[in-house]
Order: sequence, then C-alpha cells, then structure tokens
Amino acid sequence: MERNHRGCCKARRDPHQIPGGEPTLRKDFRELTEVVQRSGVISSVTTNGQRMATEPRLFDYLDEAVFSLDALDSEKNGFHRGRGVLANVMRAIDHAFDRQTRVYIKMVVSTEIHDQIEPLLEFCERRGIGFHAQPVQVDWSYPDEEATALTLSDPDVRNMHLKMAEWKRAGRPLMFCAETYERTARWPDYTKFQLFGDKPSDCMAGRYYLHIEPNGDVYPCGLNVDRFSAKNILRDGLQTALKAARQHNCHAGAGASPPPAPAG
Ligand SMILES: C[S@@+](CC[C@H](N)C(=O)[O-])C[C@H]1O[C@@H](n2cnc3c(N)ncnc32)[C@H](O)[C@@H]1O
Ligand code: SF4
Repeated sequence: MERNHRGCCKARRDPHQIPGGEPTLRKDFRELTEVVQRSGVISSVTTNGQRMATEPRLFDYLDEAVFSLDALDSEKNGFHRGRGVLANVMRAIDHAFDRQTRVYIKMVVSTEIHDQIEPLLEFCERRGIGFHAQPVQVDWSYPDEEATALTLSDPDVRNMHLKMAEWKRAGRPLMFCAETYERTARWPDYTKFQLFGDKPSDCMAGRYYLHIEPNGDVYPCGLNVDRFSAKNILRDGLQTALKAARQHNCHAGAGASPPPAPAG
C-alpha cells in the first residue's frame, strides 16, 4: 500500500478516503491511516463513529473524519442507526476536535427523518462541521416493501437538493458546491445512479479520483464496481491499472457533466 501511495500521489494533497464496510473495525486501521498520512495524502475515513467514541487513538493519523449521522433526535437516529449511536457519535466528534481532525457529517434521508435535515445542518454550523445529506438509496433489483416505504418521492429528492444549493449559496457549510446540488435536482431518473454513453467520459473520476478494491482492482469510482472491466494493481501492474481506469464511458453521476436542464 505504501509503495502504491508514493506512486499515485507524489505531489498532490488529495484525500484518501477509507470507506468500508466499517473501516475502524480493521485491526490495522491506525497503521493504514499512518501510511496514508505519511505519504503526504489527506487521510480521511467515512465511519459510523462507534469505535472512535471509546478509542480516540483511532484519530491519531486522520486529517478528516466523515461521520454517518441521520438525526439529532436520538430516537429518530436510532430508528436508522441503532440505539445509543447518536451519543457515541457525539463523543467521537469531541475526540476528533481535541485532535484537530476536520469533521463532516453525512446524513441519509428517508421519509422517517425528512424533518431532521435543517436541525442537523444548524448543529453543524454551530460546531464548525461540514454537512451533506443524501436520499436513502435502495437496490431496485431486490424489491422490499419496508425499504421502499423509506424512499423519498422524486419531488422530495429534487426539492431537498435545491434547498441544499440555496443554503450553500447563502454560505452554509454544505460539503459540495451549489452547482452539484442543482445538477442532482435535474437528474432524470433517481432509480439510476449512472448514465453510460458511447464516447469516452470527461468525468474527473479515473484521473483525479480512483476507487481501489482491497484485491487491487482499480475503478474510476465506487459506483462502477462490477460495471467496468477493471485492471488489477497486483496482476496487471500499477500503471496499467491506473491508465485503464481513465478510459470509461460513465458520463453522468456524482462527478460528471450535468444532465441537461429540462426544456421550457
Ligand atoms: C456504506 S457506508 C460505509 C462507512 C461506514 N460504515 C458508515 O457507516 O459510515 C458509507 C456511507 O453510505 C451511507 N449509506 C449507507 N446506506 C445507504 C443507503 N441505503 N442509501 C444512501 N446512503 C447510504 C452511509 O450513511 C455512509 O455515510
Ligand atoms: S460520472 Fe460519476 S459515477 Fe460515473 S465514473 Fe464519474 S464519478 Fe463515477
């Protein structure tokens, strides 16, 4: 990992996100983050924060931590995340600040907690935390009534993103730019996470951002796992694997060109 990091990130100060599963469950979590930070890359994790509440040493080599939290109301957060999770995340946030780790909160919005977006944003503003909210996603290929009941309607998803764009323009601490939220509000079909085209994509994923699976497969981004013919760092070599990830035809997703504005 250390060798690959030096190869990938010589002069840049890009973030290296350790996503998961739950990455803090790894016994070597501190070592991994130490390698990332030592190689000059921003060391970052997305986490449920549960282990960090009682083990602040997990922050020792982290530049930033993204906590998953869905409500400031412990019952509502507990409905999504489990009882006691809110209190643990609050404890973990305090540890993060004690250690000068930048903090972000990522909220997953369902019909049950739609009213929690603004209270959570206000909390983030008070504490100097970056905030992002995303609608709950379900895998439509495995229909499940309980899960479906939690998903927002298309107008709710659109309005939520327009609101976030408006908040961002008003200087509130949203993680992404207003254009990104507006683009998401124009998404043609929220059951589709990507749009593939015939020509090579101009998306930044694959050039300035990569997703590497634990087995060494390199993808332009996580959404392309199993939808892209990946090369492998160990089998094919680092350069080949990185170059291959540049050539993809995924045109519209989180980091790509906007879907066109609706006519009229
Ligand atoms: C899959 S989790 C993995 C990292 C870590 N275990 C955590 O809980 O934050 C990565 C992010 O995806 C979000 N997430 C999980 N399930 C989701 C879903 N069904 N729809 C939208 N976002 C989801 C989580 O809240 C978290 O912020
Ligand atoms: S357009 Fe989005 S989903 Fe597609 S490769 Fe780029 S970042 Fe990934």
